[in-house]
Amino acid sequence: MNFKGKVVVVTGVGVGIGAAIADGFAACGATVVGLERDPETLNQSATRIIKSGGSFHPIRADVSLEEDVVSAFREIIAKFTTVDVLVNNVGMEFYRNFVDVAVSDWDRQIAVNLRSVFLCCSHVVPLMIRGQHGSIINTASVQALATTGQTAPYAAAKAGILGMTRDMARDLGQYNIRVNGICPGCIETPMMDRSLGRSSDPQSAREKMQSAIPLRRLGNPREIADVVIFLASDLASYVSGVALPIDGGLMAQLPVV
Ligand SMILES: NC(=O)c1ccc[n+]([C@@H]2O[C@H](COP(=O)([O-])OP(=O)(O)OC[C@H]3O[C@@H](n4cnc5c(N)ncnc54)[C@H](O)[C@@H]3O)[C@@H](O)[C@H]2O)c1
Repeated sequence: MNFKGKVVVVTGVGVGIGAAIADGFAACGATVVGLERDPETLNQSATRIIKSGGSFHPIRADVSLEEDVVSAFREIIAKFTTVDVLVNNVGMEFYRNFVDVAVSDWDRQIAVNLRSVFLCCSHVVPLMIRGQHGSIINTASVQALATTGQTAPYAAAKAGILGMTRDMARDLGQYNIRVNGICPGCIETPMMDRSLGRSSDPQSAREKMQSAIPLRRLGNPREIADVVIFLASDLASYVSGVALPIDGGLMAQLPVV
């Protein structure tokens, strides 16, 4: 894959899947602009990528906040003029029984997981229309397709991302802009560590999870990054509007009764 001369914006690049996506695009020659709310991990990603010869422009931003997104894209436009690829990766997990979900939980989940995607897209799309090309990849989840329970606001936000992705693909195809959604399954990241850490026995929770996945293992962030890079590339030039599970086969099976 060759992304030399391309500007790729990735959100949530400090750790996990977003860090792997930033690493992957930088290794393909892209100029990566990383938006991240945590200055420490943002700095770590910048140091790692620049040390390995990549081009990386860090911007500290909480993408759930309109003022942060406005100022981030002001900086991006001033420095790079255009954006070729946007990867909306930021997300925040949530586990609580539906009856215990507070309105404030709902608002926070929708702000971080769904509103942030709209905010970033709303700044990037006019640039892509002007350039008559672009690729946007929105990160949903297998929880957008079927749920484990206790995730109503998260599942709703992630399903919302898929609806928005389809609508954007429909509206923006005429400008040669492709918009796709990915649905990661169980991936080894700090988010997964926190999720397994809720169990009294995280190791057996992990083993149970692995045994439910046809490939019998959790995914590596790099395995998500590879698919994102493919979707952003010309190899996927006729792919738009999809919701692609990257889940080791998890969604292909009927639950055992
Ligand atoms: N890990 C999984 O198993 C899994 C499964 C399905 C979907 N996903 C989705 O993949 C994406 C990445 O997940 P992950 O596991 O790497 O998460 P993670 O929590 O390990 O990392 C998320 C990164 O995003 C940053 N971030 C969070 N909120 C932010 C905000 N408002 N503004 C800017 N930066 C912010 C965090 O600081 C962190 O660097 C998320 O959208 C998540 O919902 C993950």
